[in-house]
Amino acid sequence: MNAQPVRCQQLRHVYQMDGGQLIALDTIDLTLTPGSSNAIIGPSGSGKSTLVALLAGLQRPTSGRVYLGEEEISRLPETALLRIRAEQVGVAMQNPSRNLLPYADAVDNIRFAQRGPRSYRRQTQLPNPEQLLDELGLAPLAGIPVDRLSGGERQRIALAVAAANRPGVLIADEPTSQLDAANRDRVVELLRHISTHLAATVIAVTHDPLVAVGLDRTIQLHEGRITEDTAA
Ligand SMILES: Nc1ncnc2c1ncn2[C@@H]1O[C@H](COP(=O)(O)OP(=O)(O)OP(=O)(O)O)[C@@H](O)[C@H]1O
Ligand SMILES: [Mg+2]
Repeated sequence: MNAQPVRCQQLRHVYQMDGGQLIALDTIDLTLTPGSSNAIIGPSGSGKSTLVALLAGLQRPTSGRVYLGEEEISRLPETALLRIRAEQVGVAMQNPSRNLLPYADAVDNIRFAQRGPRSYRRQTQLPNPEQLLDELGLAPLAGIPVDRLSGGERQRIALAVAAANRPGVLIADEPTSQLDAANRDRVVELLRHISTHLAATVIAVTHDPLVAVGLDRTIQLHEGRITEDTAA
């Protein structure tokens, strides 16, 4: 898969709750360059996780459009969306243990991620797990059950697993939140490497300005709107 541009137009997301509604995102317009690395930064509740869930096709917007490459994913039927998610989008959730099978090693975790949904046959060749780990500088961790790795090591394996299908877009929600400075820098380096060498458009949600400065572009959210957008 080649790196995909990610685009949204007039994106709005409203959560319905018993007492009323909550506008999580309002009129977001954004175009991310294929192969770039991008930080989404902003205070708690500003809409970061909602935005990346919409860009990943994990949630549907209340209104507005989301495009991955040429495809408008916000209006695809569920089966077509499932295929796009499996083939084009890699996601690492906030807590790395949620992304991994704890007793399996990195190689088996990658293999598991590569199986994809039962309902379709994949057209493209998937990377060999050992080779992928080697490309990402993670070969020494390949054979160790992930529950025996440190938090920083596990987070890097979670990113390798997110990259298992060579997605055109890789999304990581708070990939450095539980890490010290040295491990944070390793994760930032890995995110950059995934964008440049594996040709994925990388989107990382973060609270940490030092993660953002390591990436190509920083998009700041506040109360569901973009308040700042800066290229490094
Ligand atoms: N499933 C939901 N139902 C109702 N409201 C929600 C839901 N998910 C998020 N919200 C609300 O939408 C707003 C944006 O939430 P979101 O999780 O996108 O913020 P965030 O920037 O990721 O915050 P954090 O930094 O704390 O992870 C918040 O006010 C939140 O309370
Ligand atoms: Mg969040």
